[in-house]
Amino acid sequence: MARLRVAVLISGRGSNLQALLDACGEGGFPAEIVLVLSNRPDAAGLDRARRAGVPTRILDHKVFASREAFDEAMDGLLRTASADLVCLAGFMRLLTPGFVQAWQDRLINIHPSLLPSFKGLHTHRQALDAGVTIHGCTVHFVTADLDAGPILVQAAVPVHPDDDEDSLAARVLEAEHRIYPLALRWLGEGRISTENNRVRVSNGTAAIYPLINPAA
Ligand code: GAR
Repeated sequence: MARLRVAVLISGRGSNLQALLDACGEGGFPAEIVLVLSNRPDAAGLDRARRAGVPTRILDHKVFASREAFDEAMDGLLRTASADLVCLAGFMRLLTPGFVQAWQDRLINIHPSLLPSFKGLHTHRQALDAGVTIHGCTVHFVTADLDAGPILVQAAVPVHPDDDEDSLAARVLEAEHRIYPLALRWLGEGRISTENNRVRVSNGTAAIYPLINPAA
């Protein structure tokens, strides 16, 4: 079966991009990254793509007159690359409704919280302030509403009493690097369907044990 052609949109470090690149480099993985696009010329993730031999493009949002013009340019590059799927990986730009509509069901994001909790920015700060003992990350389809589309997969991590934003972010990030490739694999294998805002993974297996924190 043909591999899913994936474009990854980044704004910075690109550690999730790296996780996707590594997965796509595994034999038999059902997706390939055909384009990495950054809105920031200095995004460190661009080097990760170059090292992996993946084409990169920079669209500096500052040189566009409007959000619409920026998204139209992005749409053009994605179509030229014949992307089947767009993965947002630390892409810190709001997308226009037109763009989201055009890529509906073919646009996914990773967010550093257990949605619908802690949308937006500073999710680890939000989790610490709320006093939750379990936090995590979510891969979801992107819809017009911010951080609200159908959820593909989530991972939970414990919050430790002595955590600060950095330690918690690091624990969540490790989980991000596990679930983003997983979601991409399922999409590439054609195992994902959505009904009434709920995603089903065919032949998916439910996690067996609840994470209870504190444990005793
Ligand atoms: C990740 O933690 C990702 O979940 C988050 O930005 C970080 C990017 O790191 N994304 C968002 O907050 C989107 N709203 P990375 O560049 O190393 O992948």
